Amino acid sequence: MKSIILVLLIYTCTVLGSKHYVVSKEKATWHDAFNHCKANGTQLVSVANRTDYHHLQTFIAKRLNCTEKCAVWIGANDLATKGTFTWVATGRRVEFTNWKPKKKLDNVSKAREEHCIEVLYYLKRSYRWHWRKSECRRKRYYVCEKVHT
Ligand SMILES: *[C@@H]1O[C@H](CO)[C@@H](O)[C@H](O)[C@H]1NC(C)=O
Ligand SMILES: *[C@@H]1O[C@H](CO)[C@@H](O)[C@H](O)[C@H]1NC(C)=O
Ligand SMILES: *[C@@H]1O[C@H](CO)[C@@H](O)[C@H](O)[C@H]1NC(C)=O
Ligand SMILES: *[C@@H]1O[C@H](CO)[C@@H](O)[C@H](O)[C@H]1NC(C)=O
Repeated sequence: MKSIILVLLIYTCTVLGSKHYVVSKEKATWHDAFNHCKANGTQLVSVANRTDYHHLQTFIAKRLNCTEKCAVWIGANDLATKGTFTWVATGRRVEFTNWKPKKKLDNVSKAREEHCIEVLYYLKRSYRWHWRKSECRRKRYYVCEKVHT
């Protein structure tokens, strides 16, 4: 089953800065995305700082042709300790973030189990590449990275 999924995945690559990003052509749950990246010798993408994020954002927009809505998994969650997000690639705490500024009615979705971070471009809801906590079982495109050192 897993190998079938892998075969179905078509990857596109590019080199930006020192990082080699690969965007999936299929959507997957956060955990499947994590595993698919690993199986290919890469990691679900981490974001170090604003410059780094700008590169990633540009890459996603181009590859997925985001005109209306794009939602993409990145490699961070707070499954270990609720409220403390860490990068799966390094185990380090997430430092740079790009959450959307909070609105008054933000408590609407409090009941949901949202532990994985997605990058969201969705102008209708005022998401301009902001990060959003989402349920890990949802299916999203995702980005794997290979860091050239
Ligand atoms: C791994 O990623 C490369 C692109 O970096 C791609 O050419 C290759 O097909 C991928 N391999 C698998 C097994 O998905
Ligand atoms: C941002 O992160 C990238 C990737 O890790 C690194 O190469 C770069 O030096 C960092 N830039 C700053 C200003 O910290
Ligand atoms: C991107 O999507 C728009 C709208 O769906 C389409 O008109 C355009 O041709 C697409 N561009 C590319 C490069 O695929
Ligand atoms: C949000 O929380 C406040 C106070 O905790 C409550 O009065 C309000 O009804 C909540 N809003 C929604 C949409 O649940």
